[in-house]
Amino acid sequence: MKLFILSAGLFAAGLANASLAGIKREQVLVSNCLSNKNVPTQWKNSSEYNTLAEPFNTRLVYEPYAIVLPETNQHVQDAVACAAECGIKVQAKSGGHSYASFSSGGKDGSLMIFLQAFNNVTLNQETGIVSVGGGVRLGNLANGIYDQGKRALPHGTCPGVGVGGHATHGGYGHVSREYGLALDTIVGLDIVLANGSLVHATETEYADVYWACRGACDSIGIVTKFEMQTHAAPESITYFDFEYSTGIYKDKDTYIETFLHIQDVALNTTVVDERISWGIYENGSLYKIGGAFHGTIDDFKATVVPEFLRTLPTPNVINITSYSWIDYLKLVSDRNAIIEPLTGYDEHDDFFAKSITVPEKDGFTAAALGAKYDYITTGKVPSFFVITNLYGGPGSAINEKDTEFAAYRDRDSLWVLQLYGNKPGNTSLPFINGLTAAITGAQPQTEFGAYLNYVDPSLSADEAHKLYYGEELYGELQKVKEEVDPDEVFWNPQAVVVSA
Ligand SMILES: Cc1cc2nc3c(=O)[nH]c(=O)nc-3n(C[C@H](O)[C@H](O)[C@H](O)COP(=O)(O)OP(=O)(O)OC[C@H]3O[C@@H](n4cnc5c(N)ncnc54)[C@H](O)[C@@H]3O)c2cc1C
Ligand SMILES: *[C@@H]1O[C@H](CO)[C@@H](O)[C@H](O)[C@H]1NC(C)=O
Ligand SMILES: *[C@@H]1O[C@H](CO)[C@@H](O)[C@H](O)[C@H]1NC(C)=O
Ligand SMILES: *[C@@H]1O[C@H](CO)[C@@H](O)[C@H](O)[C@H]1NC(C)=O
Ligand SMILES: *[C@@H]1O[C@H](CO)[C@@H](O)[C@H](O)[C@H]1NC(C)=O
Ligand SMILES: *[C@@H]1O[C@H](CO)[C@@H](O)[C@H](O)[C@H]1NC(C)=O
Ligand SMILES: *[C@@H]1O[C@H](CO)[C@@H](O)[C@H](O)[C@H]1NC(C)=O
Ligand SMILES: *[C@@H]1O[C@H](CO)[C@@H](O)[C@H](O)[C@H]1NC(C)=O
Repeated sequence: MKLFILSAGLFAAGLANASLAGIKREQVLVSNCLSNKNVPTQWKNSSEYNTLAEPFNTRLVYEPYAIVLPETNQHVQDAVACAAECGIKVQAKSGGHSYASFSSGGKDGSLMIFLQAFNNVTLNQETGIVSVGGGVRLGNLANGIYDQGKRALPHGTCPGVGVGGHATHGGYGHVSREYGLALDTIVGLDIVLANGSLVHATETEYADVYWACRGACDSIGIVTKFEMQTHAAPESITYFDFEYSTGIYKDKDTYIETFLHIQDVALNTTVVDERISWGIYENGSLYKIGGAFHGTIDDFKATVVPEFLRTLPTPNVINITSYSWIDYLKLVSDRNAIIEPLTGYDEHDDFFAKSITVPEKDGFTAAALGAKYDYITTGKVPSFFVITNLYGGPGSAINEKDTEFAAYRDRDSLWVLQLYGNKPGNTSLPFINGLTAAITGAQPQTEFGAYLNYVDPSLSADEAHKLYYGEELYGELQKVKEEVDPDEVFWNPQAVVVSA
């Protein structure tokens, strides 16, 4: 703790007041430091504070000590230096969509550095590399690179999600099996470290920072600018939707056989290549397979569809439609628009979610699927959904990389499941945790993991490190942490810590 290097005399008056008001000594020091350096900051007494502090997940609302609204890299550097000097924990906020509200600190009293002014999107026409401010939301990113040069990146569907959290902890969309995760497209970073220095990190400069930030940046630093390698936007995307609004849950064998067939299709090299991905959405009544194929309708109907429908029960709805890239993004945004406001974003949900990653070598067994069926169809089921996304299978670019490439371990999954309980989130905790335990418990021979971007606040730090990173990778991350942030300035309840 470097608390006492500051002159005691300078702060004596402030500290006396602070102890009267019950405010912590560190907090007075950091507030003096921020105002001395003219860092734009919103305090609890500001009328904007609550709106700025509000996370996407209103189930977990924390009170940051203060909210810094930097306009320059120097502001970020000064804010981090002040917090480090005074022993206050720091988290960046990009889109604020953390399932655990970690961008609000994951506890009360942290310093939030909200990057909403870092909203530049600038495409280099020659290299196809785009410079992206650390606070850009995915919809504005997709729209910007398409407008500037008909380019595209692989990333998630929700246009309000921020690049800052998304691209540093994975980043999956339907074209990820072809182009990789959002994380895989990062070729350079401007990042502010715990000692307040701004560095440019790439494969060759600050290579350890570049490696660790791609998988654990919440513990490493604050990215003010990403450089990402774009692709030519697909000419057309064929979107498909096979829906079972009744029937699937009426019979356990049908439920199990349907998924086992989908799993066979996913692994069938004659029909599946990198151009396709899908998710199965289910909520106890609706069961639908929706996905995207990078190609024409005719090609899709000739290749993949027959195998899909060969042994699946007949869907109630079959919808296969061709879209331009931007129209496809609008379709999956669920709100038919991808442009987001630069300030005042105001969409929220009250939820609890977690994830399961399923190794490709094992897939799901009938026993695990049966346990899932039993859990969903018996007892009192709250409002929930499960989405099972295809990550692996023939041609998957996601699974071509390993932990040498980036500090990200989920490179061998066939499926990644998101189990999401809502309305209101707290009441669904036992159901979602129970469902997850029922599925994984019925397949004990498999080592399941979890997906970093569906960060699960119900895990202890140890459980989280094991599920997200595993012992070996976590050990490597601890070494980088010790080098660049030994005082654990960047912290949330599941952050990488220097030692146990
Ligand atoms: C509605 C919704 C839809 C989603 N859809 C998908 C999807 O299709 N595919 C998918 O893969 N995921 C999806 N997600 C999950 C999403 O990818 C993660 O929640 C992601 O981490 C959110 O990023 P953010 O910047 O909005 O979050 P924030 O809450 O701002 O940040 C999350 C974490 O990253 C850190 N961080 C943020 N910015 C930076 C930065 N610039 N530098 C360093 N650290 C930073 C924060 O401190 C925090 O610890 C979805 C989430 C929601 C809520
Ligand atoms: C709000 O709080 C900050 C930090 O405690 C303080 O510096 C500032 O003077 C306060 N502003 C008002 C208007 O009370
Ligand atoms: C955004 O881009 C403009 C124009 O290139 C530049 O002047 C500004 O400094 C950039 N802002 C940030 C936060 O990078
Ligand atoms: C793979 O798909 C082809 C084409 O539809 C089919 O003939 C073959 O039986 C499938 N293989 C398996 C193992 O299901
Ligand atoms: C197919 O899906 C699109 C997009 O959701 C919708 O506009 C269209 O009406 C659907 N067509 C049918 C036949 O359901
Ligand atoms: C499942 O989703 C459908 C479509 O959104 C909805 O009509 C239905 O009520 C949901 N069922 C449950 C159990 O949540
Ligand atoms: C829900 O749980 C969180 C975390 O334990 C808690 O902070 C919050 O107050 C709870 N909300 C309600 C409505 O009980
Ligand atoms: C800040 O930390 C980085 C990473 O450890 C180091 O390379 C750099 O020299 C440090 N800068 C200063 C000014 O101490």
